Amino acid sequence: MDGSQASEDKTLLRFLTCGSVDDGKSTLIGRLLYDSKLIYEDQLAAITRDSAKYGTTGEDIDLALLVDGLEAERQQGITIDVAYRFFTTPRRSFIVADTPGHEQYTRNMATGASSADLAVILIDARKGVLIQTKRHSYICSLLGIRHIVLAVNKIDLMGFDPAVYERIVADYMTFGDKLNFASITPIPLSAKMGDNVTRRSDHMGWYKGPTLVEHLEEVDVETDAVSKPFRFPVQWVNRPNLDFRGFSGTVASGIVKPGDKIAVAASGKTSTVARIVTADGDLAEARAGDAVTLTLADEVDIARGDVLAPTTARPDVADQFAAHVLWMAEEALLPGRPYLMKIGASYVPVKVTALKHKIDIDTLDHFAAKTLTLNEIGFCNLSASNPVAFDAYDDNRETGAFILIDRYTNATVGAGMISFALRRSANIHRQDLLVSRAEREELSGHKPVVLWFTGLSGSGKSTIANLVERELHDRGIRSFLLDGDNVRHGLNRDLGFTDEDRVENIRRVGEVSKLFVEAGLVVLTSFISPFRAERRMARELFADGEFLEVFVDTPIEDCIARDPKGLYAKAQRGEIANFTGITSPYEEPENAEIVIKTAELDAAAAAERVLEALQARGVI
Ligand code: ADX
Repeated sequence: MDGSQASEDKTLLRFLTCGSVDDGKSTLIGRLLYDSKLIYEDQLAAITRDSAKYGTTGEDIDLALLVDGLEAERQQGITIDVAYRFFTTPRRSFIVADTPGHEQYTRNMATGASSADLAVILIDARKGVLIQTKRHSYICSLLGIRHIVLAVNKIDLMGFDPAVYERIVADYMTFGDKLNFASITPIPLSAKMGDNVTRRSDHMGWYKGPTLVEHLEEVDVETDAVSKPFRFPVQWVNRPNLDFRGFSGTVASGIVKPGDKIAVAASGKTSTVARIVTADGDLAEARAGDAVTLTLADEVDIARGDVLAPTTARPDVADQFAAHVLWMAEEALLPGRPYLMKIGASYVPVKVTALKHKIDIDTLDHFAAKTLTLNEIGFCNLSASNPVAFDAYDDNRETGAFILIDRYTNATVGAGMISFALRRSANIHRQDLLVSRAEREELSGHKPVVLWFTGLSGSGKSTIANLVERELHDRGIRSFLLDGDNVRHGLNRDLGFTDEDRVENIRRVGEVSKLFVEAGLVVLTSFISPFRAERRMARELFADGEFLEVFVDTPIEDCIARDPKGLYAKAQRGEIANFTGITSPYEEPENAEIVIKTAELDAAAAAERVLEALQARGVI
């Protein structure tokens, strides 16, 4: 074969290997790298004779791709141990994601698999199909991998027995057939001896199929992002001077040419691509994976995070959608808690509004769940604070995938794959009210505001809030006190004290407070509200200055000593589960507007302090 000819249009295959600890994964990757390096060097020598072209161009492009993969991960703050290794044969280049085996298999695999076209699932011929094998296969199917190689390894240790191989393949197929892969290719091999990896085995005359490398070179991975509709998430608006306005980013899928009609997905504004600008001059077209700057024929409002797409093949735009979420954090996913979603180049706050079911990866059964813990997979409804542009993950892995980020630690806590938009939002519109907010304030004669009391049970929140409200009322200020114990008898009577119920408790109280503020009232809330994420969520419902956090800072020892309802004593006897301060955490506020140390102030003085703060802010 003419090596230089083949290398000109060599394609790239990204794959990953999945296996348990002793299945021989490292040996296999080592074998591939070792054997292919020889090929590579031979070929390099031959080609250097002819021209220097292949060595530099080929290597540069491919190495850049390799680095890209790592860079994207670094930016997403994923500190997962996935090594990308690169090798090449005369016919194809390969990037293999080497994910460590056991324990945190799900999140490691997800990281490696999200960009892979194919997965090599390793089976130890001595052990056959294991639960791990099924888990790996399911995660691969969920992450959109269409092609599977079932590598039946260590066949040498079973005397190269075809019966052993046939049995394992048949066993795998009963499960694998349900997962809708485009191809499952079984290969008997010995990574250690090299049989059927790059070299055909002398011991398995009965096997007529390809070697692993032959198959990897030939397999037709039609998932190629180039064949999908054009998608361009705008990473930044490039405006060096008044004469130039370009939109920079990486083509996520498809092809774009000057003259193409495009639309901004979210706003629906349309224009025509004028130029495709790069550091090396303008291009006649850009394809999936190319980093370019596009200029448009018209002045169109476009910001970072917008997605450009053909006018004729637009992505979905919605703020409610259903997705599979794969949870990667030690701390459980809590429905109702806001996380930051990164989809394409945009970051949007998002909440899981309903966890529909959790998936048992071993049996593929669905079952009810309230949270997801590390490595679990669930199917959820999500609600974003703004509409986002996306495609179903099945249609486009580039634009259908997202990650979830913890808003405090910035760590990646989940990965998601969107199934479909929930159309509900399209049919619910906002109704304009004839009485304006300003008119309500005028009638009240004062500004509305929320005083959000937080602190341990028995810290004195309700006592102080009551004194404040009494005084406000006496001064003719319209107010309402939402008290934890009372609200839990009515609106929130269905909620207990698990983490997820407390999140929902605070979400509802936040929404009710917002309605009362719109009605023009001074709202006082008295809830432990132990989690800063939900206090922040409540805060974000209001305009600047409208939400005042009052931290009633009482040492837990004092609360235990007071124990007004006898609950601490019960909790200490183990009669109340998840009791704040005893068996459930309280996260102290960091930036409360008002801090009251009850060790230093009695309730009346504390109430006075709150009223002064209201006065200072011009509320009263
Ligand atoms: S919150 O954590 O969800 O904000 P909330 O303020 O509504 O709690 O309710 C707290 C009150 O419920 C406490 O003052 C106490 O009277 C009662 N309570 C009952 N069980 C618990 C518990 N496990 N933890 C804390 N408070 C509890």
